[in-house]
Amino acid sequence: MILSKEQNHWELIYSNQSHVDLSWYQSVPKTSLELINQYASSKENKIIDIGCGESFLADSLIDQGYKNLTLLDLSSKALQNVQQRLKDASHVPLNIIGDVLRVDLESNKYDIWHDRACFHFLIKEEDIHKYLEKALHALSDEGKVILSTFAIDGPERCSNLPVHRHNQESIKKIFGKHFLIDLSFLENHRTPRGKLQSFNFFVLKKKNK
Ligand SMILES: C[S@@+](CC[C@H](N)C(=O)[O-])C[C@H]1O[C@@H](n2cnc3c(N)ncnc32)[C@H](O)[C@@H]1O
Repeated sequence: MILSKEQNHWELIYSNQSHVDLSWYQSVPKTSLELINQYASSKENKIIDIGCGESFLADSLIDQGYKNLTLLDLSSKALQNVQQRLKDASHVPLNIIGDVLRVDLESNKYDIWHDRACFHFLIKEEDIHKYLEKALHALSDEGKVILSTFAIDGPERCSNLPVHRHNQESIKKIFGKHFLIDLSFLENHRTPRGKLQSFNFFVLKKKNK
């Protein structure tokens, strides 16, 4: 199988390094969990984690009783590792290996679209537009986006790739026609090497048609 340049980049990352050494590693994705618990209407909600990598979010959500999880990532290696880790869980998440900009997602399916540190890799306007279209298509009418990106004073690169840093203004410009920003706040993430990185969290609610 021929991998795209981006896929190859991420396969190498997850093949050559332990997840716990990666700058974005969190032993418990506390803020994401709190936001999902705040915005999910029940444990039956369908949740998709976009660019999940090897995050422990799925483990924590399963522990808390969530049953309908889908994990999506470009890297098959990352998804295999998560699947292996969760093999004894009663509700193993569905996996989709692929590019969020290109995968076919079921329409009107998900209650929560979670993305920590994946969206910020989209630099080109056309890719940002495709992402918005995917989220709009896949989310239910009451669907919410929980998004976490590097903030304006955050790093200019992540995993040695350039990123687009966001604030309320840029998010409103991209999502504002179809979503309301319900919540937005800054958070410092401490990397495994002890550096602080400034992240912005956003919760977006689909506007009524
Ligand atoms: C910085 S990591 C964050 C991982 C995870 N969300 C976390 O918080 O631990 C970014 C992840 O996004 C994935 N990714 C990057 N571009 C993607 C795309 N276009 N479609 C799907 N996944 C992508 C990468 O493979 C990687 O696992």
